Amino acid sequence: MERTFAMIKPDGVRRGLTPQILARIQNKGYRIVGLKQMMISRETAEAHYGEHRERPFFGELVDFITGGPVVAIALEGENVISGWRAMMGATNPANAAPGTIRADFATTTGENVTHGSDSPESAERELGLFFGEGELLK
Ligand code: RTP
Ligand code: MG
Repeated sequence: MERTFAMIKPDGVRRGLTPQILARIQNKGYRIVGLKQMMISRETAEAHYGEHRERPFFGELVDFITGGPVVAIALEGENVISGWRAMMGATNPANAAPGTIRADFATTTGENVTHGSDSPESAERELGLFFGEGELLK
């Protein structure tokens, strides 16, 4: 059984998409083992997206992700890391397959509604960044 970190980004929360996205997760059969709406500090945002520090869009990305509440989600399921990425679709919604979250709910790369860890190492790191030890279901 694998775990991953998922997030509904500020654009998704602002647009009232939280219930629809949680429904997709539960319809799929993933187990939600952590769930909270929260503001992300600048420090956490910079750590979360640390791999993109040198990219030209880094500042905008951090501004965006700290600009409103997000929903942080810990998911458990078989192959959930790649499975949740598949449900989200390609980073650029224009390239996202029909039926994916980014195809169905987004138009721009900068505001693409959800996040998902991209590897077991990222999942472990990001879950630790957003959830304390006792916060996740056993
Ligand atoms: P995420 O980390 O948010 O789940 O998205 P991802 O893996 O599909 O994409 P990643 O390469 O990790 O990029 C992180 C976020 O940065 C924004 N981005 N902007 N302007 C650009 O070229 C560009 N490239 C990436 C996107 O919002 C992306 O989700
Ligand atoms: Mg990424």
